[in-house]
Amino acid sequence: MDNIYITRKLPEEIVEPLRAKFDVHMWHSESIAMTYEEIKINAKGAHALWTMLSDNIDRALIESLSNLKVISNFAVGYNNIDVEAAKEHGIIVTNTPGVLTETTADLTFALLLATARRITEVEQEIRSGNWTSWSPMQYTGMDIFGATLGIVGMGRIGEAVARRAKGFDMNVLYHNRSRKLEAEETYGFTYAELDDLLKQSDFVILLTPLTPETKGLISERELNLMKNTATIINVARGGIVDEQALFNALTSKKIWAAGLDVFEQEPVPLDHPLLTLPNVTVLPHIGSASIRTRQAMMELNAKDIEAVLENREPQNRIV
Ligand code: DGY
Repeated sequence: MDNIYITRKLPEEIVEPLRAKFDVHMWHSESIAMTYEEIKINAKGAHALWTMLSDNIDRALIESLSNLKVISNFAVGYNNIDVEAAKEHGIIVTNTPGVLTETTADLTFALLLATARRITEVEQEIRSGNWTSWSPMQYTGMDIFGATLGIVGMGRIGEAVARRAKGFDMNVLYHNRSRKLEAEETYGFTYAELDDLLKQSDFVILLTPLTPETKGLISERELNLMKNTATIINVARGGIVDEQALFNALTSKKIWAAGLDVFEQEPVPLDHPLLTLPNVTVLPHIGSASIRTRQAMMELNAKDIEAVLENREPQNRIV
């Protein structure tokens, strides 16, 4: 019987159907992540590895799991997996695209609104007893309605965000490896080179995958191109923005604010300099975190693991 190892405790109703066909082992905790060494030891002998985006599945780990046929990642992003190493060893890698698009676009827009209108910062002001009078320019933010939005990485989620932006009468620019001519025609989005997008946008949203090419894509030079009234929103992966450069740009008022759902190190350390800034709105990587969407993602993982172990083609194969 093929053996499945799941690196986090998942709801039994999702895992149960797999138990009828496979030998399923699962980490004991929903909130405590497995260490690298724990995965290496516990998953030894596994034919399928069901991973979280926080698991570092590198070449050495892949090569130590000699029975592995499939790695199924509970995320659409897969920068945590060495897919080249998996491919070389004939291991299939799957992810969870599609089902999280609208949920992640909702969260992106929520973070954009929250950052622009300083929602979390000013809520804290009330709770701390600092709201002592209504004043004309106190707690003022930036208008979203009618502003220019620049989306870097126009995949499915980018398009879903851009559609929402149209409802706010925003002017939407995008930058992507390939042009999206149909979306340009249907919705009136405009393609721009990255530097032009950064110069013109009031809000810049990062939605590109983290790859060697996009690591540090937004660094000092790029932040310097932005307007000093502009806001940057990162809902993709932490490494895409150089956090030290972002901190400098925010403290020297080169840009106005940032909204971050992702960090280079997650969970972000409590003493991280960015957490000291009032003009940074932070979230704990919750792009896809609705109950229905997380369940749909798990169902995709389960189906694809089952498919590979039964020698069928999975629905969401990366390699
Ligand atoms: C993903 O699935 O890659 C997202 O980051 C989840 O929020």
